Amino acid sequence: MESVESKIAVAVVADAQTGVVKVADEIAALIQEKQSQNKPCVLGLATGSSPIKIYQELVRKHREEGLSFENVVTFNLDEYCGLETDNDQSYHYFMNHHLFSHIDIKPENVNIPNGLLSGSALEAHCEAYEQKIKDFGGLDFQLLGIGRTGHIGFNEPGSSVDSVTRMVTLNQVTLNDAGPAFNGVENVPTTAVTMGVASVLQAKRIVLLAWGVAKASIVNQAINGEITNQVPATYLQAHNNTLFVLDKEAASEL
Ligand code: GLP
Repeated sequence: MESVESKIAVAVVADAQTGVVKVADEIAALIQEKQSQNKPCVLGLATGSSPIKIYQELVRKHREEGLSFENVVTFNLDEYCGLETDNDQSYHYFMNHHLFSHIDIKPENVNIPNGLLSGSALEAHCEAYEQKIKDFGGLDFQLLGIGRTGHIGFNEPGSSVDSVTRMVTLNQVTLNDAGPAFNGVENVPTTAVTMGVASVLQAKRIVLLAWGVAKASIVNQAINGEITNQVPATYLQAHNNTLFVLDKEAASEL
């Protein structure tokens, strides 16, 4: 593993699987440390293709090494608006499919934004989501992917540094990238509920994953560009405990 000198700590790994093992080991160690202190371990979780293998590795640790998630509380970053939770493109479905249905997490400890509300009910939900994270003492660890617009969660270009959980309109690049999974861009929900930039930056530890050459340009902008609301991932430069885990292709423009 190679370290690159930059504004954000970077680990360039030989391949995605090496990065997956490293990050899953860190998460498992944190869960066990909190267990030994009899405390909840509060994890911020991400969807998208990048973290899938992390979840597979955590499930393997649960099955083969007895890693327990009984003390784990999770807050997912985001959810599309208007998709029922059993829709196979919803992030509720994604998380159950890849992680929650395979481990011993307590259902009441799973938190995912509700994309089925509107108006004042949605506003109240977003406020309660933020408050619940605070009530647990904040996120111990936040896992992130990065969209090609530089979004983290669904904080698209234009998101402010002090944004919190709210409904957002998705960028056309994001809609296009999601198109194939929805059998056509016209089927992709155009709005979502996402934790804000401020919600993410409050985490004590942040690890962002990026694999493949398609992410090389935006990863470089996130790490080496000026901090700007046009590339929300640049806000991570202002966080003091963030690590980008990149394969060689994602790191190729650094
Ligand atoms: C979606 C998610 C993001 C994720 C991004 C990148 O937009 N809301 O949280 O980081 O996709 O996805 P992938 O990992 O598939 O490239």
